[in-house]
Amino acid sequence: MTLALNGVTKEFNRRSIFRDVSFSLGSGESLAITGRNGSGKSTLVKIVCGLLSPTRGTIEYVHDGKMIEGEDVRNHIGLVSPYLQLYDEFSGMENLELLSAIRSDRTLEDGRIDEVLNDVGLWERRKDLLRTYSSGMKQRLKYAFAVVHRPDILILDEPTSNLDKDGIEMVTRRVREQQKSAILIVATNDADEATWCSKKVELGTHR
Ligand SMILES: Nc1ncnc2c1ncn2[C@@H]1O[C@H](COP(=O)(O)OP(=O)(O)OP(=O)(O)O)[C@@H](O)[C@H]1O
Ligand SMILES: [Mg+2]
Repeated sequence: MTLALNGVTKEFNRRSIFRDVSFSLGSGESLAITGRNGSGKSTLVKIVCGLLSPTRGTIEYVHDGKMIEGEDVRNHIGLVSPYLQLYDEFSGMENLELLSAIRSDRTLEDGRIDEVLNDVGLWERRKDLLRTYSSGMKQRLKYAFAVVHRPDILILDEPTSNLDKDGIEMVTRRVREQQKSAILIVATNDADEATWCSKKVELGTHR
């Protein structure tokens, strides 16, 4: 898998957020996106996921020598972010099943959902409605959703928000796993988290 951004610029209402961001990542490579509050980290993450369009510039996803386009992009990406919406009136397990069904191209192998729920420490609470979850439990469920399809690109925006010591350990394990053979992107204000990655893009320095 390779991911390449070329001259990506984003403006909101003609206000420039960032200009000319370019990078390329192959399997086993990782990138930290840093910069102050409001510098555009989450905006760049959304562009990489295909949730927002850039004002200028291009994003290319190549898998096994083939370009990946449109809806198919989401089958290759896992995202953990504060703006990911979960369903309060469904259980943790139902959320995972529902959200996974949106990804069309791969059916999960038997037992995979149980495996990730166990992995993020939510197995015991899987049947409880999401509105009864603590914020750290919701963050853990986002990890389950992000990795259940074994994504080629894992993107973490504010990776450890609301997590306790065990939760952070779960994240660092996951990060190491992802770095073995896939692409990892971490958007963060935390200097320690930025050191997880081999490459770095710092936003907000052009002003
Ligand atoms: N939909 C939108 N319409 C207009 N402006 C927006 C929109 N989304 C974000 N912005 C602006 O873009 C800038 C970058 O926001 P973004 O959320 O990407 O920053 P960030 O680096 O993730 O910040 P933080 O560290 O606080 O998470 C901010 O000035 C924000 O107000
Ligand atoms: Mg942000």
